[in-house]
Amino acid sequence: MHRKFLIAGNWKMNNGITDSVALVDAIKKRTMEVRFVDMLVCPPFIALGAAYGAAAGSLLKIGAQNMYHEAKGAFTGEVSFSMLRDCNVSYVILGHSERRTIFDESDEFINKKVCVALENNLLPILCIGETEAEREKGATFEVVEKQLKGCLENVSSKRAKDLTIAYEPVWAIGTGKTATPEIAQEVHSFIRGKLVEIFGKNVANSVRILYGGSMKAANVEALLSQPDIDGGLVGGASLVAEEFCSMIEVAEKLSL
Ligand code: 13P
Repeated sequence: MHRKFLIAGNWKMNNGITDSVALVDAIKKRTMEVRFVDMLVCPPFIALGAAYGAAAGSLLKIGAQNMYHEAKGAFTGEVSFSMLRDCNVSYVILGHSERRTIFDESDEFINKKVCVALENNLLPILCIGETEAEREKGATFEVVEKQLKGCLENVSSKRAKDLTIAYEPVWAIGTGKTATPEIAQEVHSFIRGKLVEIFGKNVANSVRILYGGSMKAANVEALLSQPDIDGGLVGGASLVAEEFCSMIEVAEKLSL
């Protein structure tokens, strides 16, 4: 059976409360008829509650862009899983390349968050992907495998079915340089193979692997037509309702 597509918008550090509500409203209006695609937007922390309120009555889900692994306490500036749950968040993006490079997050640190999210009914979207230099020296598979295994340490097969993986080649993020469908599929299929090794075939076949990196309405169909690409984690193009909704509509069309 085909995995249900997930089209997710990572708004990054864009949109306060007013703009988030306006964007959710616009997406909601245009996607009321969508039935076969999971739809998600991930606004900044401060707008999660308002975005959830604005999405009420639709199938649009709300996700967070990060979280801390401790439940509460003296961790100035951090946000815990229980706080996200309180905002009715369903998904949480973990290990985004911007967190890895700008905020020095390691696989070990991301692993703690993945485990806590899975234990507390938050669906993690684990991001992995190589830099341009790593690809050029032929280290793509090695890097992706190391990140995957490091971030999934101690995750049981039972919990792993709630995982989503996002393959985001760093060289394609915000650059307008999309991976070709063939390049993306090659890595997605490699990731699926590693998931089979770690969790077995059943779980590996049910886990969605999203592509991220300059995905937009113009290239979404070719990417989603690959057998192991199960949706997208969209940055820039998710900030414009028209563009984002066109991508959802393509996914819906491919699901009929
Ligand atoms: P862009 O779609 O802007 O390249 O960003 C991708 C991304 O980082 C999504 O998490």
